[in-house]
Amino acid sequence: MLFTNITILRYICLGKIIVMAKVKKAFFCNNCGYESPKWLGQCPSCGQWNTMVEEVISRGEGPSSKSYAAPGINAKPQKLSEIEASGNEERISFGSLGELDRVLGGGMVKGSLVLVGGEPGIGKSTLSLQIPLSNPNLKTLYVSGEESARQIKMRAERLGGIHDGCYILPETSLDNIIDQAKAIKPELIIIDSIQTIFSTAVESSAGSVSQVKECAVSLLRFAKETNTPVIIIGHITKDGTIAGPKVLEHIVDVVLQFEGDTRHSFRILRSIKNRFGASAELAVYEMTGTGLREVLNPSEMFISTHEETLSGSAVAAMLDGTRPFLIEVQALVSTAAYGTPQRSATGFDVRRLNMLLAVLEKRVGFKIGAKDVFLNIAGGIKVADPACDLAIIMSILSSNFDVAISQKYTFAAEVGLSGEIRPVSQIERRIAEAEKLGFERIYISSYSQKEEKQHKKIKVIRASSIPQIVRDIFQED
Ligand code: TYD
Ligand code: MG
Repeated sequence: MLFTNITILRYICLGKIIVMAKVKKAFFCNNCGYESPKWLGQCPSCGQWNTMVEEVISRGEGPSSKSYAAPGINAKPQKLSEIEASGNEERISFGSLGELDRVLGGGMVKGSLVLVGGEPGIGKSTLSLQIPLSNPNLKTLYVSGEESARQIKMRAERLGGIHDGCYILPETSLDNIIDQAKAIKPELIIIDSIQTIFSTAVESSAGSVSQVKECAVSLLRFAKETNTPVIIIGHITKDGTIAGPKVLEHIVDVVLQFEGDTRHSFRILRSIKNRFGASAELAVYEMTGTGLREVLNPSEMFISTHEETLSGSAVAAMLDGTRPFLIEVQALVSTAAYGTPQRSATGFDVRRLNMLLAVLEKRVGFKIGAKDVFLNIAGGIKVADPACDLAIIMSILSSNFDVAISQKYTFAAEVGLSGEIRPVSQIERRIAEAEKLGFERIYISSYSQKEEKQHKKIKVIRASSIPQIVRDIFQED
């Protein structure tokens, strides 16, 4: 009798263990979304350390019927030649926000999923609310998991243009969002933000890797099934990846990145992935008291307009994506107050600045080893185009000699390790932009391609070494 009781007890215990074991957990990499059944110190996919976190995937009640992410049923292969497709994708245009159309490759493709990423406070919510407000003919469902309906109304009043075609849904449950979208049948859905919404198909909390992944896949599926374009907003972590799960970038059709310095008013919207057009397109916006305003001629914004010419400033003709820009580079060189000279750069890679200083010291013979060097890119933007090298070198020399460079001169060349002046891509477009803005001279590499057309208003000066340009600029008279 005792024996059977113990056996029954044991079976009950075992049964419990089996039920408990059904709670499905997994480890996800916070950085790239890699899934692993056990904890790992280093993620095998992206190589980051200490990024694996445990998440509950399901409580074991069987596969959730609520998941919209289930694979397609009974799909069959078709011959490519027999698939019917209209030549062009159907796109919706954002009217007065024409720059956004351009970044998307000519409007937003119906049924596409677009991710807009950016750091907190950069203006993602503002931009996403301006889209419905400036398009009264577009029936839009704006879902916010972060702000109440009243808060959104207050913001909309500030931005102006309230109309009947814009529906607001303060909601965080994906299931309800999809139900409401099916009922209202909007022409565009905006979700602010993907990290605040959750699906009941996954047990982990909102914002976790598995939730974000599940919600994005469900929305993608909804977008494709109903041919409704969906914009999702995603927060970016400090290191620049979109909210930990880089996995989002693989799921969506288009990734737009909203960047800029929150202390300045300029914002850049950049396309970093686009399944329907060229990536590397960008649009420039200015944050004003009444929302974001498009900047159609960015070059004029990034060149400061001081009356007299000041030493330490030079203009670079750079290219960002496919867009030529003229930006002002400012340098300050002073005798080092302490033993070790300081080098600091805002908007530019300080390692590249150190390299350029080493080139100046070693190859050109300028002694600035015992000087502090501060570099600043005007307007609070970040530059990575090597074509800025020459302008940076010239601004440093200008500050060092305390001799101003004419505001009518601009530079577009890379500087190599042996001090040589190297050609940069798309020189024609840089020259054209400088000419359009009334510059009188542009210094480029003598190895640059020969220009196809003659420039009447701008003098193109080809140089092969820094001393040659120094003679030309600082010893003119
Ligand atoms: P927001 O869109 O809330 O940023 P995000 O959603 O990316 O976190 O915008 C935040 C900043 O924008 C805030 O600091 C205030 C500023 N802002 C303006 O300057 N003008 C405006 O008209 C609005 C709506 C916001
Ligand atoms: Mg926001």
